[in-house]
Amino acid sequence: MIHAFDVLVVGAGGAGLYAALEAGKNAKTAVLSKVYAVRSHTGAAQGGISAALGNVEEDSPEWHAFDTVKGGDYLVDQNAAVILAEDAVQAVHDLENRGLPFNRTKEGRIDQRRFGGHTRKFGEGPVHRACYSADRTGHMIMQTLFQQCIKHSVSFYDEFQILDVILDGKKCCGAVALEISTGEVHILKAKAVLFATGGFGRMFKVTSNAHANTGDGPAILARHGIPMEDMEFFQFHPTGIKDMGILISEAVRGEGGILRNSKNQRFMEKYAPTLLDLAPRDMVSRAIVTEIQEGLGIRGDRKIDDYVYLDATGIGKEKILERLPDITDFCKTYLDVDPAEKSIPVQPTAHYGMGGIPTDIHGRVILNSSGEVCDGLYAAGECACVSVHGANRLGTNSLLDLVVFGRRAGIHMADYVKDAETDTIAKDAAGFAGERIAHLVENKKKEQGADIREEMRNTMMENVGVYRMEADMAKAVNTIKDLRQKFKETGVEDTNRGFNTELLDLLELSNLLDLSLITAESAKNRKESRGAHARDDYPERDDDNYLKHTLAFLEDDDVRIDYKPVDTSRWEPKPRIY
Ligand code: FUM
Repeated sequence: MIHAFDVLVVGAGGAGLYAALEAGKNAKTAVLSKVYAVRSHTGAAQGGISAALGNVEEDSPEWHAFDTVKGGDYLVDQNAAVILAEDAVQAVHDLENRGLPFNRTKEGRIDQRRFGGHTRKFGEGPVHRACYSADRTGHMIMQTLFQQCIKHSVSFYDEFQILDVILDGKKCCGAVALEISTGEVHILKAKAVLFATGGFGRMFKVTSNAHANTGDGPAILARHGIPMEDMEFFQFHPTGIKDMGILISEAVRGEGGILRNSKNQRFMEKYAPTLLDLAPRDMVSRAIVTEIQEGLGIRGDRKIDDYVYLDATGIGKEKILERLPDITDFCKTYLDVDPAEKSIPVQPTAHYGMGGIPTDIHGRVILNSSGEVCDGLYAAGECACVSVHGANRLGTNSLLDLVVFGRRAGIHMADYVKDAETDTIAKDAAGFAGERIAHLVENKKKEQGADIREEMRNTMMENVGVYRMEADMAKAVNTIKDLRQKFKETGVEDTNRGFNTELLDLLELSNLLDLSLITAESAKNRKESRGAHARDDYPERDDDNYLKHTLAFLEDDDVRIDYKPVDTSRWEPKPRIY
């Protein structure tokens, strides 16, 4: 079946919905998503959205932009960070005006809490910058934007799995998707297509990411020769529930929670004397792993399943219930722990990819190191890399990235489609997608997808985790290459067309395998430590050789590495001290 729109948005999280809302004002717009819109992973973002409103204490967008650049270990494109911080104020007020129920100060202003790496006066001490709705901020943003999209007559294709993008040379003219309930393949013609498909944390064993976070958008574009930027930088959030990886918001530390080792010591005093538990996430995750490696984890075995405690008992029951109700529920449900009374066992959990599809500040996808763009092809949100997070993202800057750059992409697309021609779609536009499905359906299954997935997740966790070494990353590259070969020998037993979850699992697995290879190769190639990329064999940041963005091109079974300059026009790179 063929459908035609001006703008097609793939993904219904915060970035996709905001883009659709803006584009939908002037252009015929559709959102396609493999889950129902309000079930996207944005709903799992808990602690807040940053904006220098200055409602609780003095603050400024300039300090916010600086913190973002420093937090990202100077791999951030500084003009983009300034846009992020300056647009933040209007973005939060816009969400408020559209009905988002933020927590309030006594005076009735939007309340703000502290979060890691956000400081006043260029690093003097933590600042209250995160606007929040209890610990359900992402959920509230999504509900608000979804209602607005419905109001503005955006069309929704729920439960459609994206299969391919339709490119004609350096121009995008649509996408191909599978209707999950029927197994029918659809062609969606569009003058502009935005990928807002979210993250790819499911490549790791312990992750805070939803099952749906399988990097479908970036993998599809990588297979079309579009580079992936800075994929070596994957953030481990310090406080996932031990073994399960479920997120315990940094807001717990923002409200006064303290990390403690097996000797009950507040160990962050050693690692970040000024910001303590509110240092940037890469530093806190490394501190936890270091404590564990030194035998100061709980159990003390120095093993991967050792953990530390997050002590929230000092916050007080009333405040916990008012500001952290979901966290309280998670702890009670999964651990039988009331955080007001007992410490929470936590360990770092794979949380957020700083890298992704390279874009300019309007969301246009960049094709190469000279900055050439692909007409009509856009990306925003976690799957994109604009790059405002550099080597390490600050907490609450992800929700902000979604709304600021989702909105900008929506506005740009609405303008672009006014003069763009509607292209004739080639007859075999769905051919490649059809062949992939046919292969999986007709193949004699010799390998189990579940085994391949398990090995991929263990390999990435053990070898491309918080601390990295050349030999481990080389091992990961080889294992993932083998797994990609094995994948060619897998297939489905269930040949029903409707709700064929076995087929969907395999399509997602192939996306994760491609992105795992790119991630491991990019990490092996960067011979320095910067932000979330911490190498035991190259412990120092090396600005002389590596102050540059990686562009990784997937070429069949190999990855070719190129580079793109970093915009350092505002602040000179300095060592990060907190
Ligand atoms: O800790 C958190 O609430 C997560 C926020 C984020 O990743 O920005």
